[in-house]
Amino acid sequence: MTDILQQLEERREAARLGGGQKRIDAQHSKGKLTARERIELLLDEGSFEEYDMFVAHRCIDFGMQDNRPYGDGVVTGWGTINGRQVYVFSQDFTVLGGSVSATHAQKICKIMDMAMQNGAPVIGINDSGGARIQEGVDSLAGYGEVFQRNIEASGVVPQISVIMGPCAGGAVYSPAMTDFIFMVKDSSYMFVTGPDVVKTVTNEQVTAEELGGASTHTKKSSVADAAFENDVEALAEVRRLVDFLPLNNQQKPPVRPFFDDVDRVEDSLDTLVPENPNMPYDMKELIHKIGDEGDFYEIQEDFAKNIITGFIRLEGQTVGVVANQPMVLAGCLDIDSSRKAARFVRFCDAFEIPLLTLVDVPGFLPGTGQEYRGVIKHGAKLLFAYGEATVPKVTVITRKAYGGAYVVMSSKHLRGDINYAWPTSEVAVMGAKGATEILYRSELGDEEKIAARTAEYEDRFANPFVAAERGFIDEVIQPRSTRKRLCRAFAGLRGKQRKMPWKKHDNIPL
Ligand code: HXC
Repeated sequence: MTDILQQLEERREAARLGGGQKRIDAQHSKGKLTARERIELLLDEGSFEEYDMFVAHRCIDFGMQDNRPYGDGVVTGWGTINGRQVYVFSQDFTVLGGSVSATHAQKICKIMDMAMQNGAPVIGINDSGGARIQEGVDSLAGYGEVFQRNIEASGVVPQISVIMGPCAGGAVYSPAMTDFIFMVKDSSYMFVTGPDVVKTVTNEQVTAEELGGASTHTKKSSVADAAFENDVEALAEVRRLVDFLPLNNQQKPPVRPFFDDVDRVEDSLDTLVPENPNMPYDMKELIHKIGDEGDFYEIQEDFAKNIITGFIRLEGQTVGVVANQPMVLAGCLDIDSSRKAARFVRFCDAFEIPLLTLVDVPGFLPGTGQEYRGVIKHGAKLLFAYGEATVPKVTVITRKAYGGAYVVMSSKHLRGDINYAWPTSEVAVMGAKGATEILYRSELGDEEKIAARTAEYEDRFANPFVAAERGFIDEVIQPRSTRKRLCRAFAGLRGKQRKMPWKKHDNIPL
């Protein structure tokens, strides 16, 4: 018996070594951790339950029958993050470059199935040379099985991808279908076709980093949601994110202890909005000042900065925040910001995360650049996402809420539950200057007259009270007591039940 136990330990030891010490050293020399080190950092200490440690591939082509390492290039199982269950797979680049064989894919599928069955998130750590070339179509079939599970799990359990090495070719489409993608600067990349193919086909010369590095995907393509300096930071941030999320779509997000006063008054907010309506101010200041302990987890911080998306907590409960940012493009909505916010709203709605919308929006960005690229369809995404969201929706207009953008930004008309406005709000079809130029075109040369007309329009519409008279605004609130009012609003909506009519699925403008 002792021998048998000894053999088991030896096998385990061999499996834990992955591709061997030399390859582990090579991995470290690139500034990357190994698959197992990553799992250790991601999960609570000692919580990892591994499966399929001894799985080996079944390929007999190209001499592969003599090279059958334990684990087949991916470490899988489950563990906990701050005591809550998550499933995880971590590709092991030291074993055949982390390439995906039929059995490698089966391991991933097994834990995805378990995650779905047991209602827990899936976190995938990607570091792979892609389809195992020796296996041909078996490898592609394996990817297909993973893709199908990504699709089925979407909206059922949160799926998070962490890209910590190569992720190329069709392999990118598994992370692409998950809820969040994180990348590590300088050591990860994602592209459908690599620099060599790009050079051959389009004659463009581009490095892997330029084509698909973390900076490209967080700033230009918006494929990734955040980029971090190294593996350690990325994994710590995944832990932080998981803490905001429910384990599945049948549960509410976790309630965390909070040490902030619910009634905290922030006098500085009374002067956040400048007197000059064309002066910008930083909407993030408001977000930090209303959330518990000033904590804010931002999603897509480096993309479409004219809209801010992320998570805060109010009374320990997760709230998804969407906010126009007057510091960038005056807070206009455009294609990128509409897409960014729409996806975020849909994530929150799928996972029962209440939505807070902070509005200071002068309208949609004009121009051929926007119209030719389909701002109509893309803007409609955000409108659609808000209108179909049945989670509690609370809105605060801080300043401008003009035209179609007013309606889009979680207005009463899209079933906003509580719609607040600061006294500095202006709810109107457009700004006073633009309005008078249209209404009084014939008087345009006469500056005195136009100034009087503008002042008249401002008097009438540059305030929240016309909307409040109609009940489109539930209450005009003091900026300083925004946190208190929001905590009360969300507390009052905890029992909200609202259903959309039955349908197979909607047809959101894609
Ligand atoms: C089998 C692979 C492999 C693969 C890497 N390896 N990728 N083995 N299939 N796809 C092996 C290498 O042979 C090598 O083995 C070890 O992994 C480490 O690879 P290196 O090349 O030494 O590492 P590095 O220099 O860091 O380069 C990493 C790499 C490169 C850029 C990923 O390995 C590479 O270009 N690989 C091929 C990528 C590719 O074309 N994949 C198919 C993409 S298409 P030894 O024994 O020498 O250490 C795809 C389609 C998916 O994935 C479709 C889904 C529907």
